[in-house]
Amino acid sequence: MYHYYCLNQISEAGMEGMTEQYVPVSDPGKADAILVRSAAMHDMEFSPELKAIARAGAGVNNIPLDKCAERGIVVFNTPGANANGVKELVIAGMLLASRDIIGGINWVQENEEDGNIAKDAEKAKKAFAGCELEGKKLGVIGLGAIGVLVANAATHLGMDVYGFDPYVSVDSAWRLSRNIHHAKTVDELYKNCDYITIHVPAMDSTKGMIDKNALGLMKKGVIVLNFARDVLVNEEDMIDALESGQVRHYVTDFPTPVIAGVKGAIVIPHLGASTEESEDNCAKMAVRQIMDYLEYGNIRNS
Ligand code: MLT
Repeated sequence: MYHYYCLNQISEAGMEGMTEQYVPVSDPGKADAILVRSAAMHDMEFSPELKAIARAGAGVNNIPLDKCAERGIVVFNTPGANANGVKELVIAGMLLASRDIIGGINWVQENEEDGNIAKDAEKAKKAFAGCELEGKKLGVIGLGAIGVLVANAATHLGMDVYGFDPYVSVDSAWRLSRNIHHAKTVDELYKNCDYITIHVPAMDSTKGMIDKNALGLMKKGVIVLNFARDVLVNEEDMIDALESGQVRHYVTDFPTPVIAGVKGAIVIPHLGASTEESEDNCAKMAVRQIMDYLEYGNIRNS
């Protein structure tokens, strides 16, 4: 018999995979394993029983990894399980930044009562005109599960895609479409692209990587998308770049108090993986990992 504790709500479809040997507990102090989504665990006391934590998602910055390593607690994440959900929202983010869909919808809501919408729609067409993605250059920084999906999807939209990853070369990322250019340096990507999307984890080497310097190298009027982690972007530098017009839009899935409400920023409340499918996939993978480890001692990252 094994005891598990769910720290955030984990999708029910995923939990169906738990066999009868697994019993949920309401006290984490009694758990052999904890399943968590994105709730912060840094202040949590770990019981001597705890053997594994499964993060139903990709980023593990909500888990105190050093403490787990000291205590021999195995930490799993579910790489790729929510990548499609994030990819689709990144594409939506590019469209939101290119076509003034939000402005147009707000205009309809504000004017619906005066009965002139159909007549005034001609004015709206001009006021909310945008640009198309086809033929524009997209730079994808980071060619892991999400970056690869975004890069491939963008080629289907007719974009000219540049990929950069310091650890995985574009040539060896076998899942990448052959149509993707290999940027040899990240600067090459900054200088050439109309849209730049970041798909790297938050590490000491990546924190604040989109700063004044990087923004200064980019094309004037660039659109920057961040669905990876807020700390990758220096938000004060981003605000200056939005104010000067260096960046046309910053689309971020991280509603920090610094960036929310800033003109030109399109701020989404961390919805990248919030789809039924992604939540189920992450939970199913997390459940398999926990069972495989507790019962057989197997550590798998899939
Ligand atoms: C992740 O790390 O997988 C994402 O932040 C999505 C999430 O957990 O909500």
